[in-house]
Amino acid sequence: MTDCFSFTLRATDGKARTGVIATPRGEIRTPAFMPVGTAGTVKAMLPESVAETGAEILLGNTYHLMLRPTAERIDRLGGLHRFMNWHRPILTDSGGFQVMSLASLRKLTEEGVRFSSHIDGSKHMLTPERSMEIQRLLGSDIVMAFDECPALPAPVAKVAESMRLSMRWADRSRDAFGDRPGHALFGIMQGGVTEELRAESAAALKAIGFDGYAVGGLAVGEGQETMFSVLDYAPGLLPEDRPRYLMGVGKPDDIVGAVERGVDMMDCVLPSRSGRTGQAFTRRGVVNIKNARHMDDPRPLDEDCACPACRSYSRAYLHHVFRSGEIISSMLLTWHNLHYYQELMAGLRGAIAEGRLAAFRRDFDAARAEGDI
Ligand code: GUN
Ligand code: ZN
Repeated sequence: MTDCFSFTLRATDGKARTGVIATPRGEIRTPAFMPVGTAGTVKAMLPESVAETGAEILLGNTYHLMLRPTAERIDRLGGLHRFMNWHRPILTDSGGFQVMSLASLRKLTEEGVRFSSHIDGSKHMLTPERSMEIQRLLGSDIVMAFDECPALPAPVAKVAESMRLSMRWADRSRDAFGDRPGHALFGIMQGGVTEELRAESAAALKAIGFDGYAVGGLAVGEGQETMFSVLDYAPGLLPEDRPRYLMGVGKPDDIVGAVERGVDMMDCVLPSRSGRTGQAFTRRGVVNIKNARHMDDPRPLDEDCACPACRSYSRAYLHHVFRSGEIISSMLLTWHNLHYYQELMAGLRGAIAEGRLAAFRRDFDAARAEGDI
């Protein structure tokens, strides 16, 4: 049993769920937030520091790692966990989504996507079969099916065509993945903002059968209200006894809203990227540390935060090192942001377990309404 992959639902509160994903590399308590370690690092953080923030799983990217340093090299060096010194679970995205946003000279066919590297212009081909092979070479614990995602808004006919291609690719991903005990394969629902297309996609994925199911194709420019209108029904189209993963989301209030609607897992570059651009997430909202009002402020970023940035440094210092372009600025703000996100997830899990998610939501909104002080 310990070398298998399982999901156990522990409690629900309305549509919200809390549970545990068990993998041979450790357990992931849900709702879970996955920091993004695109190129084999969560930028500005040591892996042990990422673990200290409370993260139990990281996200890695097929697209970036296949180009540099290549999946074959990582395999020869003992796999991604050993390569990057992160020994807990890793989920890898399958590459199609990143090809569409980062690569140049893309050519999409039934077979897959041909593209030129954004690094050196070299030519590559990603197919469902090659994506499964790369994610196997990396040693990924949770492998994502190979999919395609049109930027929104897009004509419904185009969204439908793209979704059906992704479902054929999901079928090929399932075949190519095979049977790998202890490793999971997740399907990805597409269908834009059209309920019929989302339902068709969910039915296609369920017929193939996956260990978990992602909601893809959101947070691609449609806005929070539209995203929530899809999340009002999309998680309910997926099997109750499997984890549901909302890809690429989001801001703290996106996360709370998604969890309320039945999402179990999320990932986003926001806490780590914002850490490098001087934005700190706190219970009272976003603090822009570059703002001159922090210049003489001896208080911590957040009085109630137990992260190293808040325990040992003033806003004045964080402002100074940000303005000076010092590397420690990225380190401290990223640590704080990841710590805040993990505290938020722990708060959500506790509230769901105790049936007080509505009160948690009221407190969440009230603290933000007070604003930064
Ligand atoms: N990351 C954010 N959205 C998506 C999506 O729709 N598909 C994949 N593969 N990755 C994503
Ligand atoms: Zn902090």
